[in-house]
Amino acid sequence: MSKQNCTGGDKSAARVAQLVTLRYDACTQSKKDQARTLELMVRRASKKKTVAEEAEQLRAELRRHEELYYVYDSPEISDAEYDAMLTRLQEIEEAHPELQTPDSPTVRVGGRSAEGFDEFLHRRPMLSLDNSYNIEELRRFDERCRKLAEGRAFDYVAELKIDGLSLSLHYERGVLIAGATRGDGWRGEDVTGNVRTIRSIPLRLKETNGNLGKDLEVRGEAYIARETFERINAEREEASEARFANPRNAAAGTLRQLDPRIVARRKLSFFAYDALAGDRKFFATHREGLQWLERIGFQVNSHRALCSSIEEVIEFCNRMEAERDKLQYEIDGVVVKVNSTALQDEFGQTTKAPRWAIAYKYPARQATTQVLSIVVQVGRTGALTPVANLQPVQLAGTVVARATLHNEDEIRRLDVRVSDWVMIEKSGEIIPKVLKVVEQKRTGAETIFQMPTECPVCGGHVSRPEGEVVARCVAADCPAQLKARLLHFASRRAMRIEGLGEALAEQLIAKKIVGDVADIYNLKVEDVAALERRAEKSATNLLAQIERSKTRDLNNLIFGLGLRHVGERTAGILARNFRSLERLAATSVEELDAVHEIGLTVAERVRDWFDDPTNGRLCERLRAAGVRTEMEASVARSGDAPLAGKQFVLTGKLPTMTRDEAQAVIEAQGGRVASSVSKKTDYVVAGDDAGSKLDKAIQLGVEVLDEPQLLEILNGQMDETREVA
Ligand code: IVH
Repeated sequence: MSKQNCTGGDKSAARVAQLVTLRYDACTQSKKDQARTLELMVRRASKKKTVAEEAEQLRAELRRHEELYYVYDSPEISDAEYDAMLTRLQEIEEAHPELQTPDSPTVRVGGRSAEGFDEFLHRRPMLSLDNSYNIEELRRFDERCRKLAEGRAFDYVAELKIDGLSLSLHYERGVLIAGATRGDGWRGEDVTGNVRTIRSIPLRLKETNGNLGKDLEVRGEAYIARETFERINAEREEASEARFANPRNAAAGTLRQLDPRIVARRKLSFFAYDALAGDRKFFATHREGLQWLERIGFQVNSHRALCSSIEEVIEFCNRMEAERDKLQYEIDGVVVKVNSTALQDEFGQTTKAPRWAIAYKYPARQATTQVLSIVVQVGRTGALTPVANLQPVQLAGTVVARATLHNEDEIRRLDVRVSDWVMIEKSGEIIPKVLKVVEQKRTGAETIFQMPTECPVCGGHVSRPEGEVVARCVAADCPAQLKARLLHFASRRAMRIEGLGEALAEQLIAKKIVGDVADIYNLKVEDVAALERRAEKSATNLLAQIERSKTRDLNNLIFGLGLRHVGERTAGILARNFRSLERLAATSVEELDAVHEIGLTVAERVRDWFDDPTNGRLCERLRAAGVRTEMEASVARSGDAPLAGKQFVLTGKLPTMTRDEAQAVIEAQGGRVASSVSKKTDYVVAGDDAGSKLDKAIQLGVEVLDEPQLLEILNGQMDETREVA
């Protein structure tokens, strides 16, 4: 225990000592002096923090700096200062375990290398790239390369610059043994446990090509797809956590999570772009290296071009800039590389970057425009979302007229007012976001926006519980909520009822034909055809769609019911674990909480939803209408969770993985890890010193795997689910 901890530890003793000294000093002085000294001492005494207060303050400060770092991309302090604060908090918590909180930054270290990760020394430095920002700079790069090639002809490979963070992966005899971040290029962090949860990273290579796979380093970019990024931010908002500013920050924050299970849940992806053996490249061309990486099981981005001139490179850059929004992930430019590895070696490198490659950076997609008004939308859970209506402006090929402001706190943080000029940006999110206010353009005529205290649609009461960022309309019969619920229920990833769009939902609600989602199943052709602008043919089509929706899978139904905190992924977990709506409805908070990946908050919300008698009746009416509420066997084999339904038991010490890592990898693919062997167990994974669990497995005839066999199963599954780039 440190000296600081001893002195600061006993709050009451320190306080009494101060007061005694204070009284003693006061007696020896004149009345006036006494009064002044007393005042000073009281001030000093009240300034002296207790350890509990210090810990609380450190936690708040650390959280603020994490947010500045990850969310706003604008750190105020150095890494060293951050680490010093974190270390102090760790010291306090070690000395006073009663002061530990489950959400302390010491358990969920949001980023910097704390005690969590070992240092990883890169065998070859992970260099950076020189940047070019326009075509002229790209042409100058070409001229430099031509000069270095001294008249020899050569090609370039142009590939996308993925906006994530680089990783170095090490394979020994075809098995992944380590994964590290770039760090400063020389020293990174050993994040092997986290890397193993990334499904696009093979744990075992498909073929090792003799010597090539013996000792292999693969470099590439870990990233978070746009859709996943949206999901993570929605979940964070629900949990009153700050949103990540962009997918890159989300990927960086995720890779440095100490708990690999959180990493598994966040679903990172990986594109490989380089293969090295020992300290050399083993293919004559970069292109062949990429093709080999694909063959041995990596995702290599398919948007790449072999270019025999810089003009072809420029054409690729322009084409991909136009296609940028169609990609499922963020890019920030194109990387241009000399194809011949012999020439690469000849050209060499500076201390910072290779001479044979350059990044062509796309300009930031930002624009300034004026906020015409701020309106509030009401979502299916009653959440009020402020949205800025903008003076329409061209941004990266589209006209933007709206930007989300997320919530009241975000409006206050940005200090956005109606009539303000704002800078907006497209980055990762589908709807552009407001980056900042252009304060120089303020005239004084701007008006501060107030969140409504009543629902703007139904006039119902709005509540924002303490500590939450989301304000909600709590009226049960709010038509805006009902409309959002209907649209969500009918959406593609839920019950997929095509034809049930916004206009029809509004008509059905206004005419009081539909009062909840179950009413959809009572609709008759005449009901729909009688509505304004509805023909009988489209009504018949709609009813056919509704009929078909009755056989959607249980996970789609659970997702469609729109329980708070239950997104598509959680709905899948609930469906796989409980296999029917009835069983789910009858499950206690404890049972729900015991399901891996379901936390207490979700467990409580799920229970709350089913405890509401209106929802109970809704489920009953859905079932009575013929909606399937049982899980279909095929879902267990769905691509989303290749090991869904498979139960594993781990025993003994595995050669390269810790138990937590093995569990995280299995669970990342939908499998479950149980603590004891039974007839229900599909596989027992046994390492050294396996004990009675192994005996039981043999006795019950359960299949026993060693680590390489486990990796094969995990890998085999990965092949089936590989995304096509
Ligand atoms: S090659 C020595 N290729 O960009 C060359 N980098 O700004 C090393 N990046 O640290 C990198 N996509 O994290 C290369 N197709 C790609 C890339 C790529 C993204 C990142 C990488 C690197 C950074 C440099």
